[in-house]
Amino acid sequence: MKLTLLGAAGGIGQTLALLLKLRLPVGTELALYDISPVTPGVAVDISHIATSVKAIGYAGEENLAAALKDAHMVLVTAGVARKPGMTRADLFNINGNIIKNLIEKVADVCPNACIGIVSNPVNTLVPLAAEVLRKKGVYDKRKLFGVSTLDVVRAKSFVSELKEKHAETVKVPVIGGHSGPTILPLLSQALSEGRKIDFTQEEIESLTHRIQNAGTEVVEAKAGGGSATLSMAEAGARFAVAVFKALLGEDCVRYAYVESKKDSGYPEFFAHPVRFGLTGVEELLPIGHLSEYEQEKLKALEEVLEADIKLGKDFVNA
Ligand code: LMR
Repeated sequence: MKLTLLGAAGGIGQTLALLLKLRLPVGTELALYDISPVTPGVAVDISHIATSVKAIGYAGEENLAAALKDAHMVLVTAGVARKPGMTRADLFNINGNIIKNLIEKVADVCPNACIGIVSNPVNTLVPLAAEVLRKKGVYDKRKLFGVSTLDVVRAKSFVSELKEKHAETVKVPVIGGHSGPTILPLLSQALSEGRKIDFTQEEIESLTHRIQNAGTEVVEAKAGGGSATLSMAEAGARFAVAVFKALLGEDCVRYAYVESKKDSGYPEFFAHPVRFGLTGVEELLPIGHLSEYEQEKLKALEEVLEADIKLGKDFVNA
């Protein structure tokens, strides 16, 4: 089995490459691709770590096809990161073209691969990728997902901090999209060791605000040095390794931004709880009961998400 990481020399990419080298199943081939000439060096560097995952580096567009050949999964972290004062949507003008070109190549070289998009704006780049794949006649909604795991990881961290629980025992669903108000943590369903966690309304409002703005919290703290790389790489690795193992037969359930069921009432792309299996997305699981506060937030986010989705589709069809 082979996993190809696009954007492997970047801030997220290098850490993600390391974590994948440590955690992918024995015998996996890990192809690292970036336009940067440093990429083969990243592969040589991690190849000295004694695990049975074989890392190979590919630099420059002329080597993209070789990096993608026979891949079962492609992870996309390529593109630029935001600076203070920018939103994720501000990255679309640059990242839109980068991701379009990469996905066109994926469609040509490994059309059956599962594709996980980490690059921002996820809300827009996933529909853009779907449209590129559709134009190439190879779109399969079971095989394309936006990686929204960091929202779930952050929700777990912030709730466990506030409630003084072990983070490992806390579960918080996060649905919607991956930007500001489209990130919707369902605190009414939060659990610790299987038991419901109670919050005051004030706690719900401040936690929701913090989870929705956590990416910006990192961007501001890095003061011009970029956005989250380490936590994003860890979240991306958690997601990718679980889904990669599902392709090998170990089903898993993870939250991911995927195409919704027709007539579900949700925007066309939406972060759901998803059961992954041998072919990628096997089943979209029910989202469960929402509190009144969450229902209001859901109504408000739908319009934003619909506009983000339309932007990605229009970009390809223009
Ligand atoms: C994040 O959530 O940290 C990433 O999407 C990066 C960003 O720009 O916020």
